[in-house]
Amino acid sequence: MRKPFIAANWKMNKTLSETQEFISKFIPEVKDVSAVDIAIAPPFTSLALAAEQLKNTNVMVASQDVFYEEKGAYTGEVSPVMLVDTGCKYVIIGHSERRQYFNETDDIVNKKIRAAKKTGLGIIFCIGESLEEREAGKTFDILQREIEKGLEGIDPENMVIAYEPIWAIGTGKTASAEQAQEVHEYIRNKLNILYGKKSENLRIIYGGSVTPENIDLLMYCKDLDGALVGGASLKIESFTRIVKFRKVK
Ligand code: 13P
Repeated sequence: MRKPFIAANWKMNKTLSETQEFISKFIPEVKDVSAVDIAIAPPFTSLALAAEQLKNTNVMVASQDVFYEEKGAYTGEVSPVMLVDTGCKYVIIGHSERRQYFNETDDIVNKKIRAAKKTGLGIIFCIGESLEEREAGKTFDILQREIEKGLEGIDPENMVIAYEPIWAIGTGKTASAEQAQEVHEYIRNKLNILYGKKSENLRIIYGGSVTPENIDLLMYCKDLDGALVGGASLKIESFTRIVKFRKVK
């Protein structure tokens, strides 16, 4: 049995005081949740504060990105060691917004995963197709390329795969449970080919307009092991409800 993994991706939202307020109110809401791994990925500026507040709780801190070099003259970048130093446990790598707006290629994504893994950080590796690609029937080709290139030479330990169809991100258009299940099953088979038995523990989570209204149905899908939540993770009430999902048919 894979333990569900539900993570908040705050993207470029929340100041220090907003982070502090959210976390101080969120901790008591979820303190009794032991059946789900919970993580929050605030912006870089809030990482250390969030990690301090979440110490000795059941909520982990994740980063939204990382650079692949250890240190040096890379103005504006943050290294894996620096993330570990703040108390981060996971890092999101390959988010479609990074690929789209910051020209991250599969090669860069692979380098970032390699570098982050060296420090023991868990990886939330994002993949997903655009609407154009889906409509052209290329969904599985895109996912195959992203998986094969992104994970080249990578040990799967402590890795979470996030399937985030780009057309569902921030659009209010969630993939239906059937669409999500179809792709998750494809990814699971792909991971099985790559990693054999080791792949059975890998969690494949879904991201793209996840809300309190659709989480229960999504979590019912056989190959869906959790969620990466953007907009609905910015409010305590909605993120709490998502973390406390109930499986329904
Ligand atoms: P939304 O939940 O806002 O669609 O964002 C999803 C996402 O990109 C999480 O990484």
